Amino acid sequence: APVTVKKICCIGAGYVGGPTCAVIALKCPHIIVTIVDLNQTRIDAWNSPDFRLPIYEPGLDEVVREARGRNLFFSTDVDTAIQEADLIFVSVNTPTKKSGVGAGFAADLNYVELATRRIAAVATTSKIVVEKSTVPCRTAESMQIILEANSKPNCRFDILSNPEFLAEGTAIGDLLAPDRVLIGSLQSAEGKDACQSLVDIYSNWVPADRILTVGVWSSELSKLAANAMLAQRISSINALSAICEATGANIDEVANAVGMDSRIGPKFLKASVGFGGSCFQKDILNLVYLSESLHLPQVAAYWRQVVEMNEWQKKRFSKTVVDTLFNTITGKRIAVLGFAFKADTGDTRESASISLIRDFLAERATVSVYDPQVEHEQIWADLDDVVPKSLDEIQKQVTLCSSAFEACEGAEAVVVATEWKEFLEIDWETIYKSMKKPAFVFDGRLLLDASKLKQIGFKVVIIGRGE
Ligand code: NAD
Ligand code: UGA
Repeated sequence: APVTVKKICCIGAGYVGGPTCAVIALKCPHIIVTIVDLNQTRIDAWNSPDFRLPIYEPGLDEVVREARGRNLFFSTDVDTAIQEADLIFVSVNTPTKKSGVGAGFAADLNYVELATRRIAAVATTSKIVVEKSTVPCRTAESMQIILEANSKPNCRFDILSNPEFLAEGTAIGDLLAPDRVLIGSLQSAEGKDACQSLVDIYSNWVPADRILTVGVWSSELSKLAANAMLAQRISSINALSAICEATGANIDEVANAVGMDSRIGPKFLKASVGFGGSCFQKDILNLVYLSESLHLPQVAAYWRQVVEMNEWQKKRFSKTVVDTLFNTITGKRIAVLGFAFKADTGDTRESASISLIRDFLAERATVSVYDPQVEHEQIWADLDDVVPKSLDEIQKQVTLCSSAFEACEGAEAVVVATEWKEFLEIDWETIYKSMKKPAFVFDGRLLLDASKLKQIGFKVVIIGRGE
């Protein structure tokens, strides 16, 4: 019969583990939820008395305020939390491998494996182990083998796949009212019981018709498929944005016309400077690697093109800036507004801003950057990662600013790289006055009102809009 879960442990207190399990704690006051991580600084931030949480996510504060100390706990004591739990979420990072077999494509499963081995080493009672991280198809099988080979007598491990579909910036809303919750299990009696235990947790707030139970491999593959198809829509619209610029069509009009077809739908058709975020590129490359491993080169090439189009879009945008500024930006000041990979998050992983600034620095421009949420330390670390210069040299070329005004002062061009709402509301007249002339605005997010800016005097260049 299904176990009634009384204690949950979540391994990994990041962008997924933190919000996901905080919402479970909020909605299931009868379950003790302990989120653990090896990173002491991160756990300290989750526990900070003034709720300076390690990630910025609208609404997360309120959830943590209500549940923390009641039935939600954050700790670095991984072993105790594992021992006490009936059910364990594995929410650790699964970055793209940097070296070895599959480097640049395959997911690095080292963190998943270490967490799994830790569970096997310290568990003294049976556990339901839930794969929450995004992993390649059949990872659950490897986890099962590791757990069974290392388990103690009378310890049973049932593995479930329960991929997470939240998007950053809207995570709390996504978790409170998910389009669907997907749970994959083995189709054995034990597998189905374990599945029911997890269904019972989500049933505390998710309607039954939104909880899908499927086979474990389908569940794992569905997560990669969803991200690949979402990213594919963006690459499709971005590919069309290049045609718009060349023909005088307007990508917003095209997206609207296309999206009104109910079979296509209006969402996720916003042309941009390129998608970022920790997962789209990683998960598609993972799917490419999987396809190649399965001897399906045509399938691999198909999905790879989604990432290539994105790389091209980013390059194309920085080239447009250089071309428009009379083919040289050497010594010119470029203001970059937005460093996060999308609005309403402080996350910068794979942000298009990073590539743009790298390209501007290669042209020997000076760059001033403003983002309302991203820590300056993070910006330096990201630039240090990709720019082939010392941090000292980078800091001579780049200035980090505490307002959009400050960033734009004396600049020849403003580049909008993240669609923060506050960029819409700033006083563009004052900005115009403080800039060198001719003053250019490059809108990589279809955010601003072009005709208003033109009236002020700006030269305006917008993705996907020909003259
Ligand atoms: P993250 O890097 O923010 O968090 C992972 C955390 O796991 C880190 O704090 C790390 O210290 C910790 N960790 C690693 N190994 C550990 C171990 N052995 N024991 C204890 N802690 C350990 O990553 P994330 O963004 O939360 O992503 C986690 C997974 O969820 C990834 O597989 C990702 O693909 C997937 N995912 C992410 C999102 C998203 O929006 N970020 C959405 C859906 C799915
Ligand atoms: C994405 C998915 O939307 C989530 O469902 C998934 O769980 C998650 O990846 C994951 O697996 O990590 P996320 O990356 O947080 O979520 O944010 P998105 O809203 O998907 O945006 C990703 C990137 O695409 C951003 O850079 C965004 O600006 C860009 N984008 C999005 C566009 O350029 N155009 C659009 O129409 C939509």
